Amino acid sequence: MQVISTVRELNETVKQHKLNNKKVGLVPTMGALHKGHKSLMECARKECDIVVVSVFVNPTQFGPNEDYDKYPRVFDKDIELCESAGVDIIFHPEPEEMYPDFKKGGTLKENLQVKENSYIIKVPEKYTNRLCGKTRPGHFDGVCTIVSKLFAIVKPDVAYFGQKDIQQLIIIKNMCKSMNSDIKIQGCPIVREESGLALSSRNSYLSEVEKVKASTIFKVLSKAVMLFKNGNNNKKDVFEESLKLLDKDINIEYLEVCDCNTLDYCEKIRHNSFIAIAAKVGNVRLIDNVIIG
Ligand code: PAF
Repeated sequence: MQVISTVRELNETVKQHKLNNKKVGLVPTMGALHKGHKSLMECARKECDIVVVSVFVNPTQFGPNEDYDKYPRVFDKDIELCESAGVDIIFHPEPEEMYPDFKKGGTLKENLQVKENSYIIKVPEKYTNRLCGKTRPGHFDGVCTIVSKLFAIVKPDVAYFGQKDIQQLIIIKNMCKSMNSDIKIQGCPIVREESGLALSSRNSYLSEVEKVKASTIFKVLSKAVMLFKNGNNNKKDVFEESLKLLDKDINIEYLEVCDCNTLDYCEKIRHNSFIAIAAKVGNVRLIDNVIIG
């Protein structure tokens, strides 16, 4: 397994593989890797000749009051996990490698300012004025910017993203369509703990007690699916009933039904929609979802 930190070396290495007709898969990550990421890598390993994993905590997708500084950075452990998943290349650049305007050693404020000085992709409002976009202004602009940069450097045949960040996944699919890109965007199922809690790098902020409380989030989603399967597609009724299962210390930010392709809000729960939730357990914001049909 190669660990590469410069754009130039990665570009040249992948170019060589492409000249040899190798199919290249890319798994973009921010590190703090867990079994959810591993499942993306394994999926890529099955389908591609060369698997590239990027590990980069992207400053342009964090808001000024978010956890950019505090985001877990555990690169040695990440290397081990990539190795165990049979990854060929890890790309682990410094922020100034990805954003030439990033000020090395700068303050958090200066680091996040990089957005003002760089070319940033603007995601249409119809995708960002809902769900996570409502409370994370500019977040998806930052995600799409870094993902486009990675696409431009690696030029993968397939890129793998987790279904847990379903709004991100749908936005990236629509970005590729809009930009006439032929990169295949592959969504992969959510990996859960036995309790049902969706795996997330941010789970490391939770205490054991909070984890138990957080597992009721998936109970709410499962109950909603069960009620839908039993014939109730009225979201108000379904949500009212399912929310009875949520731990009382959890604060809901949203619980919504949206279309799987367009992210439009749905009046009723129906096939090709998903139910998504965002909630806070203590100070930790968690998201989860289930796809219907
Ligand atoms: O899902 C993530 O971890 C990030 O948003 C991504 C896609 C790696 C971009 O930084």
